[in-house]
Amino acid sequence: MSEERITQSSAAPMEEKQETTLRPQHLEDFIGQKTAKENLKIFIEAAKLRGEPLDHVLFYGPPGLGKTTLAGIIANELGVDIKITSGPAIERAGDLAAILTNLNENDVLFIDEIHRLNRSVEEVLYSAMEDFALDIIIGKGPSARSIRLDIAKFTLIGATTRAGSLSAPLRDRFGVISKFELYDNEELAEIIRRSAGLLNIETDADSLYEMAKCSRGTPRVANRLLKRIRDFSQVRGSGVIDAEITKKGLAALGVDELGLERLDREILTTIIERFNGGPVGIDTIAASIGEERVTIEDAYEPYLIQSGLLYRTQKGRMVSQLGYRHMGLDFPGTEDEAEPEEDAVQEKLF
Ligand SMILES: Nc1ncnc2c1ncn2[C@@H]1O[C@H](COP(=O)(O)OP(=O)(O)OP(=O)(O)O)[C@@H](O)[C@H]1O
Ligand SMILES: [Mg+2]
Repeated sequence: MSEERITQSSAAPMEEKQETTLRPQHLEDFIGQKTAKENLKIFIEAAKLRGEPLDHVLFYGPPGLGKTTLAGIIANELGVDIKITSGPAIERAGDLAAILTNLNENDVLFIDEIHRLNRSVEEVLYSAMEDFALDIIIGKGPSARSIRLDIAKFTLIGATTRAGSLSAPLRDRFGVISKFELYDNEELAEIIRRSAGLLNIETDADSLYEMAKCSRGTPRVANRLLKRIRDFSQVRGSGVIDAEITKKGLAALGVDELGLERLDREILTTIIERFNGGPVGIDTIAASIGEERVTIEDAYEPYLIQSGLLYRTQKGRMVSQLGYRHMGLDFPGTEDEAEPEEDAVQEKLF
């Protein structure tokens, strides 16, 4: 198990509940993810006009970027109920059948971590998504027969941090596939401003920006930093959050000016000190620092790459000149050498 970090992008236990107060309810309050939002707005409108369910939607991207939030907003905008479950929670095909038969016309079924559905459950989903029907096998052996049961038309919204782990037949049954991007600092500052308003916290513009810069492109981290800095301002400051108390608070929390924490820095120093800055394979990095590969890939790497500190090349991960500088070290080569080959920058998910 990894330590609990202030900037971790996944939700801590209990945090999920508190998050509901800060969750926007309408599309217009949902900040950022412009492309996804604009497309959805049209699809929602069209579905409502036709009185049909919205096409099945797949959201993918790192944790804490608003996938669950946006699923709730969609149901809200459609004026239908949402049933929330997750891949690991649906153990048997029968569990899914029970959920599906209880949906009302045009309802939304949200399945989080949909890449973790087991095979037999996934197969039930195929006909449900395509034909709004369940194929149920009755009996065993040679006398077994299959009957088809109609269910209400519904919209499946699937969320996953790993689109690459989704099977092709499942992926192909989604009509809308949206990738969630990390947020920029302006968007994060706006999210923090909105949350501060809801929580009755007084902030100034500089402090919003300071917190945004350290939020790793992730609204969940932004909201968490806001709450921790509020604690600092109430105990050590005037109760109003300004840039000075923000900087002090962040330092006390062990968060540097880019929002990096111990493990981020350890990833960078390990690659620099043990592997000459890379390229080095992800499994080797994971083994060296004693973390799981998926944790590094899902929770750490996206932000390190977006901030330009780390490159992903076909031969492995490399620390950039900026990465060396951020760690206070001299870059040994020229930036040319460190630039990844043109087509090797990002492995495509699909
Ligand atoms: N665009 C946004 N505007 C305002 N607040 C947001 C936005 N996106 C996310 N949030 C806030 O961030 C928190 C986390 O969002 P959410 O739980 O939807 O993320 P997620 O992508 O489902 O994460 P996970 O992958 O861990 O399930 C929520 O409390 C929500 O208030
Ligand atoms: Mg979620």
